[in-house]
Amino acid sequence: MRVFPPYPSGQTPTATPNQPLVVVSVMARKGGTGKSTISINLATEAVKNGLKAGILDLDPQATAENWADEREKSETVDSSQPVVRGAKPSRFEMAIAEADNSGYDVLFIDTPANSTHAATDIVKHSDYILIPTTPGSFDIEAIKQTMRLAKEQEKPAAVVLNKCRHNAPIQTKSAAKKISKDHHFPIAGEIICNRKAFDDANEKGLGVQEYAPRSKAAEEIAGLYNWLMIDLGLETEQEAALTA
Ligand SMILES: Nc1ncnc2c1ncn2[C@@H]1O[C@H](COP(=O)(O)OP(=O)(O)OP(=O)(O)O)[C@@H](O)[C@H]1O
Ligand SMILES: [Mg+2]
Repeated sequence: MRVFPPYPSGQTPTATPNQPLVVVSVMARKGGTGKSTISINLATEAVKNGLKAGILDLDPQATAENWADEREKSETVDSSQPVVRGAKPSRFEMAIAEADNSGYDVLFIDTPANSTHAATDIVKHSDYILIPTTPGSFDIEAIKQTMRLAKEQEKPAAVVLNKCRHNAPIQTKSAAKKISKDHHFPIAGEIICNRKAFDDANEKGLGVQEYAPRSKAAEEIAGLYNWLMIDLGLETEQEAALTA
């Protein structure tokens, strides 16, 4: 099994001193809602912001691992970061412990759709649950069980509205209302639209912020990342600069 290696000393990013590992699981029973895309882009953004970030790919489809293989071919980015490791869902605890021992700041767990057996345990070992869904009503219906798991274990969590049509604000608003008013569940502070840059970047083993740094997609990921860091109570680089 490939393990989470420590970063070579002197190489950025460096671990934030005395910060325990933060585990963010990206979960949804429904397939294709953007679990891998959100995991990959948030981990890439975390590296850009100076954190030691990893992705634990628990999906037998190995989407994040395949993305990392593609990334290795890139000549424009440091493909050694974020570190991506695969594990069977039954071995996720060991992989978390390894990332913790190797001084990682944040670990994004990309989970498979329908991960019913392991889902409860994964939630238990997570500090935060992100639940991506499209604004479609069937997709919102399909994340009910994941929202329930997070609620039952009183884990901080939020739904990420993904693949929203930027020209259909009413659909997005009505999805947000359904989640917050009907399901009493928090929504991430940034909505992610359906943008070709996500698919193009995924194919090349890049984050959108690397593939198209001035794109709306990159702006949305930066917004989602900053919102998440604040919700996790972790300081972002911008905040650090402001308080320096
Ligand atoms: N915001 C977005 N805009 C455009 N395309 C997107 C967006 N988010 C994801 N995609 C595309 O949608 C497809 C499914 O995304 P992804 O693989 O991230 O979903 P998933 O939930 O991990 O799927 P699975 O359940 O199969 O693991 C991919 O082709 C991806 O590039
Ligand atoms: Mg996936």
